[in-house]
Amino acid sequence: MLTRSGHAIKDKEFLNGMKEIDVARKVLENKFAELEDKSAILRAPELRALFDGIREIDPEKRSEYGKLVNELKLELQEWIDSSIAADEPVLPLDITAPWDVNTSPNNRPQLLSSALGSIHPLTTEMNLICDIYQRMGFSVEESREIDDDYHMFESLNFPEDHPARDDYDTFMTDEGLVAPAHTSTMQNRVLQKHKANLEVGEPIAVVIPDRVFRNEDLDATHEHTFYQIEGVYIAKNVTVGNLIATLSAFMNEYFGQELKTKLQPFYFPFTEPSFEFAIERPDVLKKDDSEEQKWLELLGCGMIHPNVLRMAGIDPEIYTGFAWGNGIERMVMMKNHIEDIRHFESANLKFLRQFK
Ligand code: DAH
Repeated sequence: MLTRSGHAIKDKEFLNGMKEIDVARKVLENKFAELEDKSAILRAPELRALFDGIREIDPEKRSEYGKLVNELKLELQEWIDSSIAADEPVLPLDITAPWDVNTSPNNRPQLLSSALGSIHPLTTEMNLICDIYQRMGFSVEESREIDDDYHMFESLNFPEDHPARDDYDTFMTDEGLVAPAHTSTMQNRVLQKHKANLEVGEPIAVVIPDRVFRNEDLDATHEHTFYQIEGVYIAKNVTVGNLIATLSAFMNEYFGQELKTKLQPFYFPFTEPSFEFAIERPDVLKKDDSEEQKWLELLGCGMIHPNVLRMAGIDPEIYTGFAWGNGIERMVMMKNHIEDIRHFESANLKFLRQFK
């Protein structure tokens, strides 16, 4: 009978339920201290019993009670998270291994709760960089991790057997596919995709961030896998002045300071003329006033070669444009005083936690 007194009985169930949660918490605490595999606490029968008990509670109080049980479960998850000591080594996953190698009982990597994770410093930085370019009117398109000789070289005006191909220590498969050694591998595709813009008086303005791969000897400043961001801008009457203004605007925003820039002649097959773009070293990175400390060479750039435009079906007599390619790790390393590039891919939690 659902009389007032009936409610009183149900309330009693609720109060009893609360008491049960408290009792269960104590039991679970003791069990937890004994457990070797701490995550097993989430499968404890005491917790299950509390969940099963939810349906016994008066409907009016049920959700309140259910919430408390759930909170206990979250508390258990926190116990598990904090039981994983910061210094405990985490076995790396061998991503090339057959599935059962990583999961066999005696070689099981300790999986960390997602609550312990944080955004990788390169991702944070790449998001910031893309955000600046987007505010400048560029769209963002990712590159790819496998490509062919045509996109990596030929469409960029590297004829077959051109010696400049050797500057890119490219990984290749037996079938002749390549792991792109620069994000320029996307230029021809991006140009083809957006060339209709030009006909309606709009520019092509795209930045292309992604990983690139080179068969490098590894040391503190060289990794086989690293990040670049490529940029292309094409319209009528585009000049080197536009190139300098665009890259300067980006650098000033990124380093939060008005910086002088310097262009030095260089050679790339896909730009004519080609340059190395340097900026005056930002104050935060200056150690002394010596001449070597003065300039930072940050990227390669130039006016897109007429052959590259032609190969994408764009008439170089009507349109001109500039392009650039910028390595990301070096900028992030400078900004954060990171001394070794290998930290980025090391899965070293002590390193990564500094960016949390
Ligand atoms: N792809 C070049 C490299 O990785 C960088 C680069 C230079 C990209 C000049 C460009 C460019 O788009 O115009 O060394």
